Amino acid sequence: MTSFKRREFLQISQEKFQEEGEATNSSVEQINVETSCLRLFEIFEANNEEIENIPVLNRHRTKHFLAQGLKHLSEGYDCLDASRPWIVYWILHSLELLGEELPTEQKHDIIQFLARCQSPEGGFGGGPDQIPHLAPTYAAVNSLAIIGTEEAFKVVNRQTLVKWMDRLRCPDGSFTMHEGGEIDIRGVYCALSVASLLNIYTSELFHRTDEWLLRCQTYEGGFGGTPGMEAHGGYTFCGFAALMLMGKEKLCDVDNLLLWAANKQMKLEGGFQGRTNKLVDGCYSFWQGGIFPLIHVTLEKSQSYLLPEYEWLFSSQGLQEYLLICCQDTRGGLIDKPGKHRDFYHTCYTLSGLSICQHFRTREAQKTHVFGHHSNELIETHPVYNISIDAANRATSYFNSLPVVKL
Ligand code: FPP
Ligand code: ZN
Repeated sequence: MTSFKRREFLQISQEKFQEEGEATNSSVEQINVETSCLRLFEIFEANNEEIENIPVLNRHRTKHFLAQGLKHLSEGYDCLDASRPWIVYWILHSLELLGEELPTEQKHDIIQFLARCQSPEGGFGGGPDQIPHLAPTYAAVNSLAIIGTEEAFKVVNRQTLVKWMDRLRCPDGSFTMHEGGEIDIRGVYCALSVASLLNIYTSELFHRTDEWLLRCQTYEGGFGGTPGMEAHGGYTFCGFAALMLMGKEKLCDVDNLLLWAANKQMKLEGGFQGRTNKLVDGCYSFWQGGIFPLIHVTLEKSQSYLLPEYEWLFSSQGLQEYLLICCQDTRGGLIDKPGKHRDFYHTCYTLSGLSICQHFRTREAQKTHVFGHHSNELIETHPVYNISIDAANRATSYFNSLPVVKL
């Protein structure tokens, strides 16, 4: 295990954004965020000068925040009534990263709830009796995989799922999010991720999907939501992970992707922005951070790159500092940026990003880099599915023992 030394406050404060005499709305917002982060880095350094200079992840309170969310949701979550499997996934994945196991009875209740979200037409909706949609389908399948029992695996109707997914498929290889719905790259990633986990992938179902994905890579190097859209971290993760799931990752411009993704890490804050000239946000710790393990294994296969032996190609130290010093809610849970409220989405993707930072693993080497207290170490996440490596292995070995479902 490697333990890092924190960046000194003085060093961080030299990374301030330079307005160059031209203030804009974006530059003012950027400076405000930097000021909030600098204050936290400064307080942290002042409080910790005499004692051990290390941040601690507030596991206990975060676990309590997550466990409460499985029992009761505040009114603020009303707007997510069509995303209930997502709330389940964000909480279950956060808990598994913290190494927390749910009681058997609670697992059973969650399985029963997700079963009620499954549509007789195939796929899962955002709640019972809602139309099936690729996003909650991904969230439900990941949640069932995290629970990982036979009862959970048996919920999924693979026959109806394949038939429904085939109805979402467009002639150019893209997918609509639901029947009659919009097309975007999230749909392709969600479809490929569940198809891979559940062993229902066929080349017919994803005919021409690689061609469509390649059209989403922009001149900047990241991927947009559809061809012609601006590159964004969320869509870039979906695009590159989808290409990996098809074994077609080398067909895109990996050099330009790396250049773009590495430049999305903010010099002062240490966290990632989602797109050029926008603000840092904790959730991009996974959407952007998760791209690096995928890039690493892709470049590793090509002999012409000299890659660092034990590190991803971004500053794991900088990101861990942002997450632990600037993104912890004192009541437990994690946030987008200082001043924001905690929520399950940000708690899930900040912890997922922290796990990526901590666990370096390629075919040749493996190393853990835990910044701060040793109890900060999380369970390793699978960079393609974003469930734990164990959960992904359990699900794939169960479903790979079943025959592939044909269209
Ligand atoms: C911009 O929001 C956000 C987007 C354009 C889409 C983000 C996409 C994801 C997070 C991926 C979702 C993935 C799945 C699998 C469903 P904004 O303008 O509020 O934020 P910004 O200023 O940070 O760009
Ligand atoms: Zn966010």
